[in-house]
Amino acid sequence: MRMAIRNDIKDQVQQATDLVRLIGEQVALRPKGKEFAGLCPFHDDKNPSMQVSPAKQIYKCFSCGAGGDAFSFVMNYHKMNFPEAIKHLAERAGIEVEEEKGSRFGDQGASTSERKQIAAANAQAVEFFRTLLKHEEHGQIARDYIEQRGISPEMVADFQIGYAPDRWDGLVQMIQTKGWEQDGFELAGLVSQRDSGGYYDRLRHRLIFPIFDAIGRPIAFGGRKIREEDEPKYLNSPETKLFNKSATLYGLNLAKKPIIDSKTAVIVEGYTDVIACHQGGARNVVATLGTALTGEHVAELRRYAEKVVLIFDADEAGQKAADRAVELFLTGDMDVAIAVLPDGKDPADLMAQDGGRALWDEAVATAQDALTYQFSRLTDQMDGTTTLTGRQKLADTYMTRLAQLGLSRTGAIRRSLVVQRLAGILHMSEQAVSELLSQKTAIANRAPRPAPIQDYSDMPVGEDGQYIQATEPEEYVPEAVASADSRRRLKALELAERQILGCLIRDNQRFGQALGDGRTFDEALTSADFITPDHRRLFERVFDRLSAGESVTLSGVLGDVASEGEQRLADILTQADADVDAATGDRFEEVAMVLGLAAQALLDHQREAEYRRHKQSLAAGATGQENADPDGLDSAQLLRRMIEHRRDNPSPVRIARVGR
Ligand code: UTP
Ligand code: MN
Repeated sequence: MRMAIRNDIKDQVQQATDLVRLIGEQVALRPKGKEFAGLCPFHDDKNPSMQVSPAKQIYKCFSCGAGGDAFSFVMNYHKMNFPEAIKHLAERAGIEVEEEKGSRFGDQGASTSERKQIAAANAQAVEFFRTLLKHEEHGQIARDYIEQRGISPEMVADFQIGYAPDRWDGLVQMIQTKGWEQDGFELAGLVSQRDSGGYYDRLRHRLIFPIFDAIGRPIAFGGRKIREEDEPKYLNSPETKLFNKSATLYGLNLAKKPIIDSKTAVIVEGYTDVIACHQGGARNVVATLGTALTGEHVAELRRYAEKVVLIFDADEAGQKAADRAVELFLTGDMDVAIAVLPDGKDPADLMAQDGGRALWDEAVATAQDALTYQFSRLTDQMDGTTTLTGRQKLADTYMTRLAQLGLSRTGAIRRSLVVQRLAGILHMSEQAVSELLSQKTAIANRAPRPAPIQDYSDMPVGEDGQYIQATEPEEYVPEAVASADSRRRLKALELAERQILGCLIRDNQRFGQALGDGRTFDEALTSADFITPDHRRLFERVFDRLSAGESVTLSGVLGDVASEGEQRLADILTQADADVDAATGDRFEEVAMVLGLAAQALLDHQREAEYRRHKQSLAAGATGQENADPDGLDSAQLLRRMIEHRRDNPSPVRIARVGR
């Protein structure tokens, strides 16, 4: 029954969402006939090639093919998965998403309400801290501090910076006055219980940096001390059901779009660095929360960026971070580069100086990839080591380290890059380095692995437990078509297939329509008649539903494929719909005709392919050879065999049904 609930909510959310408004918030849309048009955000669009249909609640880019419904849009634009998308849209529409135990929406049953409580408390606390900062009297010291730090009012607004007052019961009192739910604040780590009973504020007299998740919901807080003598410098929220510190990036909610646009995420060390960069106009910048970059961070960033640039100090901590970065480079399927700012400056110093932004851009652009960075250190060490055994030992240690860091999980390209570079540094042949590394890897794999920091839980795992590369959708070359038909023919067949899908979805009644040979559509065609695998899969869905007497709608199928993360199918469905529009000129009564013609095109193709195959097998039979030339048979032989074939196979077209 879970399915029913899910579909129910899915439909509800879909219906409550106005796609034109949703997309219009991200992309400028102009009315164009019955539709709206704008620049497509999914490719580098020069002319408005994306159309949004208010009537159908779908979008389609006629340039890059991207298309779908509200779910697809949110998933692709904000890089969300389906549960995130449905939650996001439900929240916008004010719909409660029931987070059932074990359902795909919720996390862990009981903890769900805990998450809700924390979320509510955090949101209320953000407003409380912001109000305090603006408070004429109580906010004065914090505002002075902000000014002294050179943080602009725009950044205060963008990052929703606030102030926790200099008392033990500021928030506690507010919770009571407003009648807010106490438990959430305690779970969020904002207030604590006194031994004597009652509660006290955890954050006092601190500048508050709310920490948001990727879609802008507050999940934690960082509080910076204002008085020199206070400790610690930053007091952060404890980890909660909502806040996993080592997976969170400060500023991601604001940096996400710029990261997507630039394909690069720049990572700095702290809250104030992020703010200084954004203020200086570098907006693809985030920070870890006082920890090294982890595999979880990378897994998140990989959804938006192709490359990560780490900015850090050239000190010991920086070297450690470089090691970590190499590990991520080796195992994380992400380019990791390292940059050090000129003159040991931090981002805020740099941005504040004249021409600072240009220096910043240059530092980011010329960042060395993590391997090069680490190798140049190795080279320095090599140069400082005069004895041969000393050098061998160094090389040995380094290779062992690489093996432990996960070289065995490295793709072939990266591995050969490592081998190449190492060979250069060590003055060894690539062959020799490669063999040495394999030995080290074998040893490393037998020993327990160093602390696992990776979380690639969404990556496919092979039988031996190794991560395997997700492969591109398999190339299809329809046998009969590729050999004998031209590309144009193939395109025509693909169009026919999409038209069939589009027509059936638009007018379900056509499923029972009679075709030219007297058979009804559902008798004549099966999914096996479709040459494109994606079309075949879509047809199977539609066929199964229709033959079970259920109705099929475009928004329904789009919602289904979105929930399965099948964006390619959404692209096809919106194209199919556009194909029907193009063929019928939007005249509903012509759907029957288009469907009939499209089905006939597929059937004709099948019949010809069958005939060709048959002719081929006859020829093979006659000469005792495979792939013999059918035209090499004399016509009498051919005729005799054709007749035999007809007798054994009464109809040249298979009549079959699938589904049921
Ligand atoms: P920094 O000490 O470099 O602070 O720590 P910062 O961000 O540059 O802050 P300002 O500019 O001195 O005010 C870098 C990051 O390490 C974490 C914070 O996330 C901080 O932004 N940190 C640091 C803590 O969590 N707690 C601390 O006590 C110190
Ligand atoms: Mn700092």
